[in-house]
Amino acid sequence: DINIELPVVDGEQAAQKIKIGIYFATWWALNVVFNIYNKKVLNAFPYPWLTSTLSLACGSLMMLVSWATRVADAPRVDSEFLKSLLPVAIAHTIGHVAATVSMSKVAVSFTHIIKSGEPAFSVLVSGLVLGETFPLPVYLSLLPIIGGCALAAITELNFNVIGFMGAMVSNLAFVFRNIFSKKGMKGKSISGMNYYACLSIMSLLILTPFAIAMEGPQMWAAGWQNAVAQIGPNFVWWVVAQSIFYHLYNQVSYMSLDQISPLTFSVGNTMKRISVIVSSIIIFHTPIQPVNALGAAIAIFGTFLYSQAKL
Ligand code: 3PG
Repeated sequence: DINIELPVVDGEQAAQKIKIGIYFATWWALNVVFNIYNKKVLNAFPYPWLTSTLSLACGSLMMLVSWATRVADAPRVDSEFLKSLLPVAIAHTIGHVAATVSMSKVAVSFTHIIKSGEPAFSVLVSGLVLGETFPLPVYLSLLPIIGGCALAAITELNFNVIGFMGAMVSNLAFVFRNIFSKKGMKGKSISGMNYYACLSIMSLLILTPFAIAMEGPQMWAAGWQNAVAQIGPNFVWWVVAQSIFYHLYNQVSYMSLDQISPLTFSVGNTMKRISVIVSSIIIFHTPIQPVNALGAAIAIFGTFLYSQAKL
């Protein structure tokens, strides 16, 4: 019996690994495309509150249409579910808009270098808020993460305080989002895809009034005219691309969060940042100095040490 069953289990495990590998590769590729179009849009149209809102609106619309046409099964939601989703949605909204504000002020690579420090925030929040303690190597691994991010920040050629703070706020908000959403998804029958769809819709409702207050239709109309005059009518497609890819990469990341531990997720997320950092430096010809790149490399190596220490 054992001899017969073992290969089946191995086969299942291999299939699961391949599935997660495909999720990860898709997630990273979609994220690279999102980051490039998002930055192209922000360069011509520096209104991050509107672009963040449009990303959520586009995803919400795509999912509402998928449910209405039965391409995807609509989830059954009750008030208890919505209540547990609210803190996730608040954290998602803050993390999303803060990252976009950051990217409107600094190079994409810089935002993502600072965002590679997310594990340090995760330890800090787990320690200070949840009272968790970790083995010494975990704390030690934070030194290269924090030191590397600091080195990258002080040697950044186009440093900007809002750009830096936006990425830091995004780190903090996303740590809370990941803690709350893993809790919220546990034991629920809702799929990762539908969970993220509900999250998008709720975040859209939260963000819209703030976006209007922070920027507003007048600024948007003038900015849009400017962007179209600069880029041409194709500008609208850049906006569409950044919005669709934003939804897709997040949807795939939630589909993989369904299958893996938060730790594996955060390691996957850091590896995703390497592809974003490298591709955005190439595409946008971002000027970097060797010591700046060294800081980024140390921070990312620190994340690798962190994942080993946390096993
Ligand atoms: C956003 O706009 O939400 C950020 O670019 C997201 O950053 P992430 O890489 O942590 O998803």
